[in-house]
Amino acid sequence: MNPELMEKLAEEIQKVGFKTGQIQGILFPQSTCDIWDQIYNFQAREDDILVATFPKAGTTWMQEIVDLIMLNGDVERSMRAPCFVKVPFIEINPRPLPSGVESANAMKSPRLLKTHLPIQLVPPSFWEKNVKVIYVARNAKDCMVSYYHFQRMNKSLPDPGTWEEYFSAYLAGNVPWGSWFDHVIGWWKARDKQQILYVFYEDMIEDPKREIRKVSTFLDKDLTEEVLDTICHHTSFDSMKDNPMANYSVLPSFVFDHSISPFMRKGKVGDWMNHFLVEQNIIFDEEYKKRMEGSRLSFRNKL
Ligand code: A3P
Repeated sequence: MNPELMEKLAEEIQKVGFKTGQIQGILFPQSTCDIWDQIYNFQAREDDILVATFPKAGTTWMQEIVDLIMLNGDVERSMRAPCFVKVPFIEINPRPLPSGVESANAMKSPRLLKTHLPIQLVPPSFWEKNVKVIYVARNAKDCMVSYYHFQRMNKSLPDPGTWEEYFSAYLAGNVPWGSWFDHVIGWWKARDKQQILYVFYEDMIEDPKREIRKVSTFLDKDLTEEVLDTICHHTSFDSMKDNPMANYSVLPSFVFDHSISPFMRKGKVGDWMNHFLVEQNIIFDEEYKKRMEGSRLSFRNKL
């Protein structure tokens, strides 16, 4: 990476990295708010594929899977660039690097794109162009734990504070990209109106090949068993942990400090049990019941 640009990025992160703003009452990095009009007016193309998630639901995992599906399992080509380069993150604005919008605009079709936006903030052109979206949802407790460790190591997001503080902030939806509850329910309600495949992280852990096949069918790709096995192997936790194009190790430590917590951290269902206090679990379950009532959306917190 260009050392001069990296130096500027380091300066920028120190200067504004911790600042957040709001869009329609939802917390975002200030740099995203600064170019919100450009993001909302982003022009999708008919053959785009969008991977959408609440943060830490398995975005990178799904990106790698979809990329390999589109490449018919060509592992070498899938390693052409780091995941954050080959898949533009449309609402991110890591000045002085190009914004997600700029990177996507400069990319040839077919494009694979990423977003963490709640459904109501997705640029309308995605719906106008009837773009296929793969939404990955992960149970709230594991998402919370994963996000807490991610905010500790990602220097462009606010420091999460103590686990106790983070627990309350997350439950109140007071973290970047907002409330887990609103996010998963909003996308769930939209899934029949648009071309949205709603996938669960827990299902991917339980039977990755079954879920990869589901995604390839959704994308009209008829893959052989052999190709499906290759994709399964290359996107396993252990393979991705060792893959510098997928594990974010090429980012400098002033952006992602893997010595605090590695990006490929545990990749398990149920790690929340190592973090939640008994009292927190009671508070969480009460709130969960209230917020999820009537949604018909159910998650597995353990397998
Ligand atoms: P943990 O922090 O619980 O380990 P995202 O890409 O949305 O930021 O999500 C990151 C989470 O997905 C991390 O969870 C990471 O370990 C997990 N993950 C990434 N690749 C995975 C894989 N191949 N298998 C299982 N989990 C994976």
